[in-house]
Amino acid sequence: EKVILAYSGGLDTTAIIPWLKENFDYEVICCCINCGQGNELDGLDERAKLSGASKLYIEDIIDEFCDDYIMPCVKAGAVYEHQYLLGTSMARPVIAKKLVEIARKENASAICHGATGKGNDQIRFELGIKALAPDLKIIAPWRMTEIWTMQSREDEIEYCHQHGIHLPFSADSSYSRDRNLWHISHEGLELEDPSSEPNYDHMLMLGVTPEKAPDEGEYVSMTFEKGIPKTLNGKSMKVSEIITELNKLGGKHGIGIADIVENRVVGMKSRGVYETPGGTILMAAQEQLEELILDRETMETKKKLGSQFAQIVYEGKWFTPLREAIQAFVDVTQEYVTGEVKFKLYKGNIIKAGTTSPYSLYDESLASFTTGDLYDHHDAEGFITLFGLPLKVRAMKMKEAKKT
Ligand code: ARG
Ligand code: SIN
Repeated sequence: EKVILAYSGGLDTTAIIPWLKENFDYEVICCCINCGQGNELDGLDERAKLSGASKLYIEDIIDEFCDDYIMPCVKAGAVYEHQYLLGTSMARPVIAKKLVEIARKENASAICHGATGKGNDQIRFELGIKALAPDLKIIAPWRMTEIWTMQSREDEIEYCHQHGIHLPFSADSSYSRDRNLWHISHEGLELEDPSSEPNYDHMLMLGVTPEKAPDEGEYVSMTFEKGIPKTLNGKSMKVSEIITELNKLGGKHGIGIADIVENRVVGMKSRGVYETPGGTILMAAQEQLEELILDRETMETKKKLGSQFAQIVYEGKWFTPLREAIQAFVDVTQEYVTGEVKFKLYKGNIIKAGTTSPYSLYDESLASFTTGDLYDHHDAEGFITLFGLPLKVRAMKMKEAKKT
């Protein structure tokens, strides 16, 4: 029997390979889904084979991740608890989907992942797998405390040695990190104490803090069509290239570093630092354009649904009719989100520097203080009479009631 292992190349998932063979007698097929984790992929094939896997798949899905997972979240303005741009959450469903596809191709009967029993990722992987392949068995070693007895990196290295695997893993633990094209998350070490300041110099990987950013700001321009970014500084690029470029620009200028205590699905609060330089810029740019284009009520409804969308994504309920339905609503709102935005990046700030759109609802003569034909000041008087009627009636009634 075959099992598909979601493999990162790190110590945790490497130790799972001999463990699966020993405890279940499975043939282990490793699968590394590349959502843009960069150099983490170096030397992976060798590692997997040396550790006893029969095969390693490396699936490059960066463009699918951008188009079908990142962009729907951007267009929805999906931000969890007002701060978290969902970098890890949005990658989990696409990883689950690829694991299922490979399980089918290999005729495997189970999928195994290395997420812990205390986190959100286990939920996201497993809800994804259940939605797409309800028949597949799911193995989560970290929850199987009777047979998964390794408690530390030392234990895992020792276990690997016992099974003839001698790879140069380091025993000292660093932050628990998760990286993809959209972001990198850092958890653990000093962050576990919310009273301590993050050690940014050791932590940051995608950029610098605002203090260390250049003293000179930098202008950036972007165009969008129907809510999708098309050009950056005048150059046509696909979304993945735009995000890559924005990551460099944002990282350089100290953009998109968030230190958050968030509420996990499993109940506890947890503290993490996220670097989302490009994503922070992209979402701000898209919103800058929407300000001109969306009417007030659509905007308000979109805000509410966007925050619900964020929760759905955070909770791993990607493959659900509700996610699809909200996404369909959002797509309708994006029909006219076309135009150009300019802004300046400066020490952690994104400063607007002008927005244009052929579909802008902004009317200069209407908004300006000089009088035009479309707006008659006398209309305002009648409007205020009716608009203020309930307030006025209430005040009159209260006054009367107090007399009696
Ligand atoms: N707390 C974030 C989330 O739930 C980040 C999780 C990071 N995952 C990891 N395996 N390091 O989305
Ligand atoms: C993990 O527990 O595997 C990482 C953190 C999380 O999933 O929330």
